[in-house]
Amino acid sequence: MSSLSENDMKVMNYHEGQPQETTNGKNYTYDWTSIHSDNFKQCFEQINEKKRALEVGCYEGRTTAMLADVFNEVVGVEPAPRELLLETVAENKNVTLCKGLLYDVLNEVGSDFDFVYIDGSHIGQDVMLDVQLAWNKLKVGGVLLIDDYEWYNDPYIVSMFNDGFIDSLELDHKEYRARFSPKRAVDAWLSVSVESDVFIENYQLAVKKVRNINEHIKNRRVFFSPDD
Ligand SMILES: C[S@@+](CC[C@H](N)C(=O)[O-])C[C@H]1O[C@@H](n2cnc3c(N)ncnc32)[C@H](O)[C@@H]1O
Repeated sequence: MSSLSENDMKVMNYHEGQPQETTNGKNYTYDWTSIHSDNFKQCFEQINEKKRALEVGCYEGRTTAMLADVFNEVVGVEPAPRELLLETVAENKNVTLCKGLLYDVLNEVGSDFDFVYIDGSHIGQDVMLDVQLAWNKLKVGGVLLIDDYEWYNDPYIVSMFNDGFIDSLELDHKEYRARFSPKRAVDAWLSVSVESDVFIENYQLAVKKVRNINEHIKNRRVFFSPDD
């Protein structure tokens, strides 16, 4: 893997966040919430009714706790819940935790979300799956915010595969990064979407769901005989 450039370091440092004092007395390892407060604010301004929020990838639940203050109901999806997240779930009647990957708990999480925050796996294939599954859970008029759209962190990803798998792929650096970070997966999804309107594009990406194509497909069976 090539050595890290100045920009690489900036992106990595950004991702680390900064531990900060909180008002709920919890001592979180990282603060990945307030560094994105401008984006969260813009997203919430777009949403008429703040009823239901879904967070994919909760870690210690710092953002989960913030969402619980804004929305009537919050569903968190997390395969490896940390103690602070479990505390947040226990302390907030409006927070439900679904333990697993989104794909595995799809029927548990419910639907009709006003806001979805995706901050789980950063591997391209996982991101592509999570984005479409989560999009189907979003109401028309709702907002999807994808964290780490511009993220890549070579050492972190390589350390996840310590059996030589990454090397065995024989990808050049550009292709390796494109497959093991969210951006290309999200861009591919956007390139086929007719339901989305991007309104924030920086380190994160925010998309409003402006229509549901299924409402325009008669019986959703266009590929079958019209007489069916
Ligand atoms: C960056 S942390 C999430 C931070 C949290 N959203 C916050 O704002 O504090 C990523 C979390 O996603 C979880 N995760 C990893 N892969 C996942 C996947 N495929 N689906 C859901 N969560 C996943 C990890 O266990 C980790 O807790």
